[in-house]
Amino acid sequence: MRIAMIGTGYVGLVSGACFSEFGMSVTCVDSDASKIERLKQGEIPIYEPGLNQLVAGNANSGRLRFATDLKAAVADADAVFLAVGTPSRRGDGHADLSFVYAAVQEIAHALSGYAVVITKSTVPVGTGDTIDRMIREIRPDADYDVASNPEFLREGSAINDFMRPDRVVIGVDSERAKEVMRRIYRVLYLIETPIVFTDRVTAELTKYAANAFLATKITFINEIADLCEAVGADVHDVARGIGLDGRIGRKFLHAGPGFGGSCFPKDTLALVQTARDAGAALRIVETVVDINTERKRRMAAKIIDACGGAVAGKAIGLLGVTFKPNTDDMRDAPSLEIVPALQAAGAIVRAFDPAGMAEGKKLLADVTWCNDAYTAIDGADALVLLTEWNEFRALDLTRTRSLLRRPIFIDLRNVYNPGQMAAAGFIYESIGRPA
Ligand code: UGA
Repeated sequence: MRIAMIGTGYVGLVSGACFSEFGMSVTCVDSDASKIERLKQGEIPIYEPGLNQLVAGNANSGRLRFATDLKAAVADADAVFLAVGTPSRRGDGHADLSFVYAAVQEIAHALSGYAVVITKSTVPVGTGDTIDRMIREIRPDADYDVASNPEFLREGSAINDFMRPDRVVIGVDSERAKEVMRRIYRVLYLIETPIVFTDRVTAELTKYAANAFLATKITFINEIADLCEAVGADVHDVARGIGLDGRIGRKFLHAGPGFGGSCFPKDTLALVQTARDAGAALRIVETVVDINTERKRRMAAKIIDACGGAVAGKAIGLLGVTFKPNTDDMRDAPSLEIVPALQAAGAIVRAFDPAGMAEGKKLLADVTWCNDAYTAIDGADALVLLTEWNEFRALDLTRTRSLLRRPIFIDLRNVYNPGQMAAAGFIYESIGRPA
């Protein structure tokens, strides 16, 4: 089985490396020659635990290759995966498909012999039909099928999510394409992973519905956390108390500063647009988008309140700027709203992040970037824990307390225990838990 993976971004690189680990022969293609050159040297452009070794191992064995020549890779392939970026289009929230369509044109010209063209990046409902029509128009003679195989991996645990998924969703409309997809995922059949075969449009919609549901679950618990604060209840126990009901489930019930990242914000917006275009209302998801945007802003107000209502001239130590741990990704991170709002109120922000500072320096102005957590804490009037990196879960509290000018600790990820923090001498604020 020969696979061409078009696009070496997050999804493309992880999927390509994992398919080669499954024993397929994979060529990862990108038009960016310098990126391909760096990948050939073993340099991985993204931060993802374990990816380095996986790429190196499979590249050495010859199963994983990197190339700029799309034509040769596609001509040779049984399956062509599209994993190019689909950013939000400015203004209307729709996904920008220009990279997808440009790649499809090239693929159409290069097809030779039967191949399945599969969308792996998240594409709007109906994109598979458009791709099918485009290829047919360009190459009426070509022998191909178009399939949808959305990816459900999370940054930071992408390899495990790919190798041991809860399920695989595949939208195909021919028995021949189905057989190719079965062969590609043969390894997962062995570990009894459920494979959901459906039609293309349904597969495309399933991806958005999954992300919108998860975003809704987070937003629900965030609102319950606000209510907990108002009535003196504990959101941690509420989440546990409801989550142990198998119909609800315990995962994705951690209250926090609002969801960020490259997927939930973009995909919820795109789904709302899809629904509007189709004349259907998706009012829950529309509301989730609004609440989450507003929540990130409100977090700055929460910090200012915890500092006694004013932060002008005060130093705020900030631990974590990425949208979640184990990634260097800052896309739609809560920090991008919170830091400028604190600065606008006159605060001096001193920040540390284990992997996000290179990106943070580009996106956040006037921040004092520190080499470690304790340097960020040193002399601060308040400490904000914004991303729950493991190293922030085990701070030396005595040292932290003594380095802070005032012992104000605002934990926006509920990492610490309120009772212990009070006993350690902190004025401790968290999300949805009594102080
Ligand atoms: C998300 C989905 O979890 C993946 O299944 C999906 O494949 C991916 O989007 C995608 O569409 O490509 P990801 O964005 O990497 O993955 O990150 P998550 O771990 O889902 O976290 C997203 C955001 O939700 C983060 O800001 C995180 O802090 C927040 N979150 C998550 C909470 O605030 N509370 C929770 O309980 C869980």
